[in-house]
Amino acid sequence: MRQPLVIANWKMHGKGAFNQALVSDFLALLKEYRAACVLCPPTVYLGQVAQLLGSRDVMLGAQDCSHIDEGAYTGEVSAEMLRDCGCEWVIVGHSERRQYHQESDALLAAKLTRAQRAGLTPVLCVGETQEQREAGAAEHVVKAQLLGALSDLSDLKGLAIAYEPVWAIGTGLTATPEQAQDMHAFIRSVLREFDAANADALRILYGGSVKAGNAAELFAQTDIDGALVGGASLDAEAFAAIVSAA
Ligand code: G3P
Repeated sequence: MRQPLVIANWKMHGKGAFNQALVSDFLALLKEYRAACVLCPPTVYLGQVAQLLGSRDVMLGAQDCSHIDEGAYTGEVSAEMLRDCGCEWVIVGHSERRQYHQESDALLAAKLTRAQRAGLTPVLCVGETQEQREAGAAEHVVKAQLLGALSDLSDLKGLAIAYEPVWAIGTGLTATPEQAQDMHAFIRSVLREFDAANADALRILYGGSVKAGNAAELFAQTDIDGALVGGASLDAEAFAAIVSAA
């Protein structure tokens, strides 16, 4: 049985006072829940959110990490630095970074190994565009993304996957539970081919317009082990409801 995992991806949102209110309100609302929960604020706020979380069992994560350990790389943040700030998780290969920063499979493969070497658990994001789905290429694209990024790993330990259909991100067009389950089951089959011993323990999260109103039916699906939440994670009540539904 996989413990559900719910991750908040704040993307490029937040300010000191907003973060203080959001995290405090969220923690106050969080009552009965069984999911592992992670907050991923912008890098500049990792220290503040780490302090706000204190000893609560909500974990800290980052939205990206460098594929390099250290050196003259202006603006880069290494996995070791993120670990040093209290992060336990890091999102890798989000579709927005693949789109706006042209992140290649080779770069993502390097990020995954750096993250694991620093003691972080990476969450590898995969997902097709509307055009790719309409062309019947969704599974082909997702399989290529998975195997391309996993190319430097020998097994699936210390990793999570997030399936985020690009057409569902920020659009309100959530994949139906059946659509999501179909792709999650396909991802699980690809992972079994890669590492049969560890594929079933790995958590596959769904991301793309997860809301308090649709979370439970998504989490009821066999291969949906949690969510990677964007917009709704910026609302304490909505995100607490999603975590409690997992
Ligand atoms: O990483 C999660 C994000 O891409 C989903 O965004 O706003 O559709 O929940 P949203």
